[in-house]
Amino acid sequence: MRFIQLIFLLFFSDAFTSPTGDTYMTYDKHTVLRIYPTTEDDVQFLRDLTDKICEIMKFPGIPGRPVDVMCPPEDIAKFKELIAEKGILVEEIIDDMGSLIREKVSLSSRMKRQVASMNWNDYQRYDTIIRWMEETALAHPTFTKLIDMGRSVEGRKLYVLKIGMSPLGDNTRAVWLDGGIHAREWISVSTATYILKNLITNFAAQNKTDCSDEVIRSVDWYIAPLLNPDGYEFTHTDDRLWRKNRRAPLTGSSCYGVDLNRNWGVAGYGVGASSKGCSEVYQGTAENSEPETQAIINTILKYTNNIRVYVSLHSYGQYWLTSWGYKNDLPEDYDKLVNLGRKGATAIRCINPSRVYTVGSGAGVLYAAGGASDDYMKAVAKIPYSFTIELPNEFTFVLDPSEIIPVGNEVWAAMKEMASEAARHPLGPDPATF
Ligand code: ARG
Ligand code: ZN
Repeated sequence: MRFIQLIFLLFFSDAFTSPTGDTYMTYDKHTVLRIYPTTEDDVQFLRDLTDKICEIMKFPGIPGRPVDVMCPPEDIAKFKELIAEKGILVEEIIDDMGSLIREKVSLSSRMKRQVASMNWNDYQRYDTIIRWMEETALAHPTFTKLIDMGRSVEGRKLYVLKIGMSPLGDNTRAVWLDGGIHAREWISVSTATYILKNLITNFAAQNKTDCSDEVIRSVDWYIAPLLNPDGYEFTHTDDRLWRKNRRAPLTGSSCYGVDLNRNWGVAGYGVGASSKGCSEVYQGTAENSEPETQAIINTILKYTNNIRVYVSLHSYGQYWLTSWGYKNDLPEDYDKLVNLGRKGATAIRCINPSRVYTVGSGAGVLYAAGGASDDYMKAVAKIPYSFTIELPNEFTFVLDPSEIIPVGNEVWAAMKEMASEAARHPLGPDPATF
């Protein structure tokens, strides 16, 4: 034990003396409640109440769909009392967010200084991920291309790594996978890097691998694991539950951040979003106002003739979401979309029978929200299949690091289904009329 401590001090001493700033949000004794509104009136009541006290974690805004709210200790009694008076059913799903974070977020991932080399036993920091992507590209020049998409608000790198042999040249179909649009959804970042690692292994081994993996090599892949690096770093150093990017406040405000999944310039911009800078779903000053949004657009539009499937990883809740996200009407090709979504969800369940995903349109099964990347990719970029996947678990963003590999393997199975559909789909802009 002594020896271990000594080693720890030797290697980590900087970080050890100041693990994080004093600004790290502890969420001590914060309780998460799951509330079951049954009427429109209940929903409105909850909307008004959460405007005043506690904080929304998930708010479908539809009677019959549970709402998750986090309350600080000083508000919990009052909140519960008002809910009870109103006769709405409520259960406690997390009794102390602070202890959950202390238990699940290792000190190493909170340290200011970077020490880790890439691995999937824990969540990795921005520097580690970026360095690993650069090294990976250098190590495998025959089948990778590192694409620098641009910089975040605070100047961090936005990378997408292309993997593939382009077996059909310009006619090679492709799959795009991204993660980390929302800062606190760490499992989306680790899953994207895990898929990336598996792709590298698979392509490096070529025909020596199992031929059931051949479909993987029939398409090209674009993997962008960390689309909101500033927010992601902030979740390590200051606030585990930060969602938005780190856009500085407008004059007269002190609130940071734009919700990068409400910023895209597409029909429905503004739906389920807010024009107020302090909102968790702040849409920004204009469509595509954020450098992160612009960087992705400028990159992906070059490849949309080939990209047949767009997948954006989020958490939590276990949903496989198709178009549309901004309205309840279904696209004309909904059956086709939902069929592929079901194939993905089934592949996941075959790996882990207890992992059940709800498949359906974003607005239909979760809530209507516009200006999201999925709607942009379908309606503007005209990519035939556009999905948002809400990864595990069913209760929280704060997943144990031991879930990284299992969730990665599950999504890997689903990605084979995406590849096999992409490979046989016609090229060019999606002909569906919207
Ligand atoms: N949790 C995601 C969000 O709130 C869901 C997005 C689903 N897509 C949509 N266009 N509503 O951003
Ligand atoms: Zn999200």
